[in-house]
Amino acid sequence: MLERKEIVEKLEAELGRERFTHSLRAEKIALALAKKFGVGQKKASLAALLHDCARRYDRKELLQKARRLGLLIDPIRKFEPKLFHGEIGAWLARREFGVRSAGVLNAIRRHTTGAPGMTKLDKIIYLADHIEEGRAFTGVDKLRRLAFRDLDRAIYESASAMIRFLVKQGRPIYPPTVVTRNYYLPAGRRGSAKL
Ligand SMILES: [Fe+2]
Ligand SMILES: [Fe+2]
Repeated sequence: MLERKEIVEKLEAELGRERFTHSLRAEKIALALAKKFGVGQKKASLAALLHDCARRYDRKELLQKARRLGLLIDPIRKFEPKLFHGEIGAWLARREFGVRSAGVLNAIRRHTTGAPGMTKLDKIIYLADHIEEGRAFTGVDKLRRLAFRDLDRAIYESASAMIRFLVKQGRPIYPPTVVTRNYYLPAGRRGSAKL
């Protein structure tokens, strides 16, 4: 596996400036969250740095790669191929960066939409992506504070915010995002139902 320094250099060469600095900022907050919630620093660093490694591909390339990897080409992802970048990123992290940790690869895979039953590392990467210090949307400060108190609640708020944003923009909502939001709906709002 590549050393952190090599990973950073490779990402810097392959990603656009904005995406590269976003990845570094995601790493910074992922490390802080990992420390707070007792998750290994090394895994948090790796997963956060690499979470967007597949963003070096454009729409057409993402779709091509998805086809080659045998991923399901549903209508929404065909329309919005960047939804493949988590899965393709996990593949790339293994193949080109030599990552072997299933936990790290899963966190990369799941960060785009989240998923029911995420591990602590998955949750940290999902949130780090949304709340790194470069993000500026209404309520982001509150969400940052919440993340350090309650990962599940922060995921619920984060997925909800994402859905509100997409509705406002009149864009399609990929169903796994809704599944994540329902799964992390606070118990008080879903009774004993498992959604
Ligand atoms: Fe991403
Ligand atoms: Fe990201």
